[in-house]
Amino acid sequence: MFTIEQIAFFDAKPYDMKWFEELGKDRYKFKYYEHRLTPDTAGLACSCKAIVAFVNDILDREMLDRLVECGVRLVALRCAGYNNVDVNYAKGKIDVVRVPVYSPYAVAEHAMALLLTLNRKIHRAFNRTRDFNFSLNDLTGFDLYGKTAGIVGMGQIGRVFSDICRGFGMKILAFDPYPDEDAGVEYVSLERLFSESDVISLHCPLTADTRYMINSEALNKMKDGVFIINTSRGQLIDSDALLKALKSGKVHAAGLDVYEEESEFFFEDYSGTVIQDDILQLLVSMPNVLVTSHQAFLTEEALKRIAEVTIENLTKFFEGGELENRV
Ligand code: NAI
Repeated sequence: MFTIEQIAFFDAKPYDMKWFEELGKDRYKFKYYEHRLTPDTAGLACSCKAIVAFVNDILDREMLDRLVECGVRLVALRCAGYNNVDVNYAKGKIDVVRVPVYSPYAVAEHAMALLLTLNRKIHRAFNRTRDFNFSLNDLTGFDLYGKTAGIVGMGQIGRVFSDICRGFGMKILAFDPYPDEDAGVEYVSLERLFSESDVISLHCPLTADTRYMINSEALNKMKDGVFIINTSRGQLIDSDALLKALKSGKVHAAGLDVYEEESEFFFEDYSGTVIQDDILQLLVSMPNVLVTSHQAFLTEEALKRIAEVTIENLTKFFEGGELENRV
């Protein structure tokens, strides 16, 4: 017989809880907190040996020390990216695990949804026809067939995105510091990808090397009228530089599922509030920008898999097994 372990679960939303309850309730008592993990809420973790955290819970040195002090031994991230954790500092003090793969299809399909919506201006058509405005003026898009998609990061998601683009008859150029010759795409330098792509989609992790990889210098190297899609991490793009490039027409359209200052806003309802972030205000107000609130992962299949793998990670930890998803 095992003991029912209490697990503090931060930034909990109804769509998360559904699968964790269904799959984990016999073994774990999840204590769901709507709040993020912050210095003010860290105390809620204190009666638990493990916590479940998400992309915008900041696990820096101070937070890790705090958790260790109050007896937490495992941080189970219910996401793939771990740029919010000071991994080097955590080593030897507290275990950190993640869900390395749950549904690359969810994210890649969302990236294509952003591209199709922006290109064919579906978001504008939706608003028009609801107002019985059946004019087609300014709704012209272009055929994706024959255009070049530049994919930055050919991992799980980048590969699925490249398959989807191939299905549309697009040519693929890829950049990845660790090219895989079996991927069936042409690997090129980042410079060449920037200068030859009609659509650039980001699928690499956020690291010290990739932070602001899309800055004014990079944007200047791109084709006039390029589309930029970012479902990866907000800080890959210098938003101020992107805004200038959108205003000048250098960038024709941008689909952003992530934003560099998203932790202030995303996942919450600010519909009655004046947003204080001027760049976000401007981006959201542009007809050629589509912002979604870090929802690319949000499919039933992905949510179920996230819960399954996180529960497997917890069980391995409590039973003393090998933590193969350790970061
Ligand atoms: P992955 O680890 O399978 O692939 C990442 C690829 O990026 C690897 O092939 C790696 O070699 C490459 N890479 C590393 N450094 C690079 C660089 N400097 N330039 C170009 N490529 C580089 O990761 P996966 O599962 O494909 O996820 C990619 C990213 O998508 C994650 O890091 C995460 O930030 C983001 N993501 C976003 C979600 C959302 O809901 N919006 C959900 C899941 C992931």
